[in-house]
Amino acid sequence: MSKKRIFSGVQPSGDVHIGNYLGAIKNWVDLQDEFESIFCIVDLHAITVSQDPEELRRKTLEVAKVYLAAGIDPKKSTIYVQSQVSEHAELAWILNTITGMSELEKMTQFKDKSQKDGLESARVGLFDYPVLMAADILLYDTEVVPVGEDQMQHIELARTLARRFNKRFGDTFVVPKGHLKKETMRVMGLDDPAKKMSKSATSEMNYISLLDSPEIVEKKIKRAVTDSGSDITYSDDRPAIQNLINIYSSFSGKSPEEIVAEYEGKGFGEFKKGLTETVLEFIIPFQEKYSSLKDEEVIELLLENAKKVSSIAKNKMDEVKNKVGFLQ
Ligand code: TYM
Repeated sequence: MSKKRIFSGVQPSGDVHIGNYLGAIKNWVDLQDEFESIFCIVDLHAITVSQDPEELRRKTLEVAKVYLAAGIDPKKSTIYVQSQVSEHAELAWILNTITGMSELEKMTQFKDKSQKDGLESARVGLFDYPVLMAADILLYDTEVVPVGEDQMQHIELARTLARRFNKRFGDTFVVPKGHLKKETMRVMGLDDPAKKMSKSATSEMNYISLLDSPEIVEKKIKRAVTDSGSDITYSDDRPAIQNLINIYSSFSGKSPEEIVAEYEGKGFGEFKKGLTETVLEFIIPFQEKYSSLKDEEVIELLLENAKKVSSIAKNKMDEVKNKVGFLQ
């Protein structure tokens, strides 16, 4: 029996942080044996807010290297760049014609992002972003989409659009399912446990980038906000320490209970020291692998893979165009 397919992606904008890693990329690494895996670097999504062209090119390569250094095995999984497969934009256009304005107006990510700079300056691309994401997923008959919680509303839209298209034009798309890792589906900011860790955060103290130096990692953890009281406990009413314990737990493989027991009677200082060591145990070898990757080789791999997935995407688009009624 052939393996089920998973598809997911990261935008090449801002710094890839431990929230992206624990919420998404780490799960991809774990799932790549069980599933046929396609991981995309979604540069068409990145330009829905203004990007410097050279920086975008540099970030695109950076994200590809992050995937590889984090343990995505190019022999098992296919990583490629979204803009190198034109069918994504093509399918997004067709899906636009079956998507309601009001469905997109409800998207919390659009509301958040457009509120930041004011609705007046929000672009149509930002509004339409979830439809492009649906196209990414549906092009490849994806069954499972491993993401962080903030993407679930977009996946729900992809499910709705797949069903709607199938109903109107006949069975064409697989209806995908989202896949979350409960403990890390929403890693919170180190500077504010009420907000999620985010690439576009105003303060760098919000997140730990996978490419931060060990000194910076140490500094950021030292400055991370904690709750009142001085003991290490795990509960919803102590969200800052709960978030740090979740991070500790995901990197170390220890359960929150084990961590609480380990730090019983010890203060935040000692806990943060342990957390720093645990995070660095991942980050240092990760960065060594990252630096050993050669740009030209990665660029070549991405191009080859784009060709490979193009044939899947093209077949699907031929089917879609035929069903919609385009002359072929
Ligand atoms: P992006 O680039 O914002 O984030 C990449 C992945 O990281 C997850 N994530 C988090 N998980 C836990 N805690 C956090 N604080 C946190 N911040 C981010 C995100 O949920 C995501 O899984 N629209 C998507 C990219 C995309 C995509 C797709 C994903 C485009 N097409 C098709 C899946 C399938 C995005 O902007 O992710």
